[in-house]
Amino acid sequence: MLIKRPPDISSSEITEEGVYHQRRKFLQQSLALGLGAGIAAHLPDAHAGYGGEALTFTTPDAYRLNVEKTAYKDVTTYNNFYEFSTSKYAPARKAHTLRTRPWSIRVEGECAKPGVVDIEDVLKRHALEERIYRFRCVEGWSMVIPWVGFSLSEMLKQFEPTSRAKYVMFETLVDPEQFPNQKGRVLDWPYQEGLRIDEAMNPLTLMAVGLYGEVLPNQNGAPIRLVVPWKYGFKSIKSIVKIKFVETMPKSTWMKASSREYGFYSNVNPEVSHPRWSQRRERRIGEWGKRDTLMFNGYAEQVAHLYKGMDLQKYF
Ligand code: MTE
Repeated sequence: MLIKRPPDISSSEITEEGVYHQRRKFLQQSLALGLGAGIAAHLPDAHAGYGGEALTFTTPDAYRLNVEKTAYKDVTTYNNFYEFSTSKYAPARKAHTLRTRPWSIRVEGECAKPGVVDIEDVLKRHALEERIYRFRCVEGWSMVIPWVGFSLSEMLKQFEPTSRAKYVMFETLVDPEQFPNQKGRVLDWPYQEGLRIDEAMNPLTLMAVGLYGEVLPNQNGAPIRLVVPWKYGFKSIKSIVKIKFVETMPKSTWMKASSREYGFYSNVNPEVSHPRWSQRRERRIGEWGKRDTLMFNGYAEQVAHLYKGMDLQKYF
């Protein structure tokens, strides 16, 4: 994601990442081979329940993905959350400063019923589902995450968007006391993202409030974040406080940071390289080696029709 390397990423931190995954893989393999009886206690996935508040949800068949999930520990300690830090390991350590209650979301713009909704009412109104999604970051790594949430479309319909609502814009909270890295200017705050209205209304587009059966850890975007599984991870904006229906294409934070590198659509596409690297392959966190990146991150059947006739080299 980086335009330039920020001062707080040191080369030792980058090394530490490689060593961390090698060590983890070694532990898993040792365990599989029956070596080292004492190792199980150190592996967070060896027991159910991760310490967060448990959620009640159903698991529809349509969203059960029959592939190995990324370990809870990796999902919750290897994060991108620039409001805390540009380092991936820091959000898990620093995110305790975020207060997720009370929390409300302002919905405005081209709709008949704008308003402010409280997170508790949002949770009461929508039945939660578990959905296992592939998640592909533009930087070249990926995960498989069991999210808990509901379709964004269900929430948006409640505000009755008008025919002028062609796009939806999202914003993260701005509060440098809770998000210490907002005291600096690594990005133009608030973090903003946008979707075309039909992308927002696609049933795959998820408002997530949990993962691994529990309330979202702060570092993963509590109390409510977007998950758009066929797009690069940066479209999945965290800790949302504002949703606005608009007529013209909004500019996202990353477009403002570098429009040459980050387009509005940002669909996962192995055929379209980032200006500085290929997007053909990816490293699934927790695995050795690399795997091929799938068109639309494996969701072509559900979303390819949204882009029919569009030049995806141009609209990247
Ligand atoms: N949302 C906000 N507000 N701030 C961020 O820095 N990072 C994005 C996205 N949403 C980001 C954000 C990027 S680059 C990615 S890859 C995903 O969040 C990471 O989500 P995760 O930490 O839950 O894996």
